[in-house]
Amino acid sequence: MTTALTEIRPMHREDAPQLARLEALVEASPWSEKNFLDSLNAGHLGFILEKEGQIAAWAVVMTVLDEAELLIIGVRPDMQRQGLGSKLLSFVLRELRGRTVLMNLEVRAGNLPAIGLYKRFGFLQTGIRRGYYPGENGSGREDALLMSLSPLPECGMNAGGSAA
Ligand SMILES: CC(C)(COP(=O)(O)OP(=O)(O)OC[C@H]1O[C@@H](n2cnc3c(N)ncnc32)[C@H](O)[C@@H]1OP(=O)(O)O)[C@@H](O)C(=O)NCCC(=O)NCCS
Repeated sequence: MTTALTEIRPMHREDAPQLARLEALVEASPWSEKNFLDSLNAGHLGFILEKEGQIAAWAVVMTVLDEAELLIIGVRPDMQRQGLGSKLLSFVLRELRGRTVLMNLEVRAGNLPAIGLYKRFGFLQTGIRRGYYPGENGSGREDALLMSLSPLPECGMNAGGSAA
């Protein structure tokens, strides 16, 4: 998909080194290059949003039968809050619609930007895993919220969200 200066394409093995560097900029527990390679080898679906030829956002989804799990989504720090995370998630949901009835994910309870993004698409909290993540500052633990979306919306975003 190409709109203006953005393009969404499949993730390739060659992207792994750069993705690992970008992940380290935005995630407390970032995926390594090996994590990306293992995930692609396992048949997970990887998506890259490029803006002006640079990787701006990335997402990886695992599908099992008619269910999907959003394993990661990230936007490089200097390109956050410009609608790119929404654009990529919208694309992913459109790609999966028709063969997927439910998408699940886990998110740190304190990750308000990500929770805001997911709620915008209609994800609802379905559970909590107490102390699931190591604390972001290296001490303590942080809860994971389990969130789900079903069915996947027609145009990527549920009523209430703005255009994707
Ligand atoms: C979460 C993330 C992917 C959002 O991407 P983004 O491109 O910045 O998000 P968008 O610009 O599309 O914003 C979509 C919605 O997300 C929420 N949001 C995004 N950034 C936010 C922030 N800094 N504070 C509060 N809400 C925020 C808002 O609800 C926003 O809608 P609005 O602009 O109408 O208020 C991005 O912040 C990121 O990469 N974070 C680090 C990695 C991460 O936490 N990934 C998720 C792991 S579960």
